[in-house]
Amino acid sequence: MIILVAYASVEGQTAKIASRIAEKVEDAGHQAILANLAEPGFAIPGRFDAVILCGPIHMGAYPNTLIRFIQNWKAALLEVPSALVTVSLAILSDYSEGHEEAMSYPEKLIKETGWTPQVQYHAAGALKYLEYDFFKRWVMRRISGHEGRPVDTSQDYEFTDWAALDVFTADFLAQAAKQEV
Ligand SMILES: Cc1cc2nc3c(=O)[nH]c(=O)nc-3n(C[C@H](O)[C@H](O)[C@H](O)COP(=O)(O)O)c2cc1C
Repeated sequence: MIILVAYASVEGQTAKIASRIAEKVEDAGHQAILANLAEPGFAIPGRFDAVILCGPIHMGAYPNTLIRFIQNWKAALLEVPSALVTVSLAILSDYSEGHEEAMSYPEKLIKETGWTPQVQYHAAGALKYLEYDFFKRWVMRRISGHEGRPVDTSQDYEFTDWAALDVFTADFLAQAAKQEV
């Protein structure tokens, strides 16, 4: 199968997640088309058998590039098995409100675009204190303190569960292959 793995990423963690998915797609003997939606000139491939869209949450929303892509290509996306990977930190929350918030992100996207992915996966992202500017670092440290996450801003923290992500990819490929026959 040809699998389109398209992503938007602000600080790079979703790009890393999409690359890992593409790597596992290729390991399983399929062809992965890894696409950064922010690249100028990106064109949807003529043929793909399934699609995995990956997007991070910043200030409660997915990047506009991802939203626009879904709106522009909804018809093509609806024709093939599809998955949405949402990358956030709210998914790590021990509080029910945090968890509900994480669940609300894809719900809002679905309402906004009218595209419902067949499969949804939530991946925890990263805290990149070393890459944030002063204001972002201050905001993220405050939120982290409130949520019981690391507040030492002298290093970055990655929360992505790579083994769980690999299981998601393998399951999605199995499901897509079933729909192909
Ligand atoms: C300015 C800023 C705002 C963020 N807002 C949210 C948010 O509203 N909800 C959430 O769950 N995570 C939020 N995050 C965490 C990101 O989703 C997480 O850092 C993710 O790994 C970012 O992915 P990226 O590196 O691909 O951009 C925010 C991060 C930053 C830096």
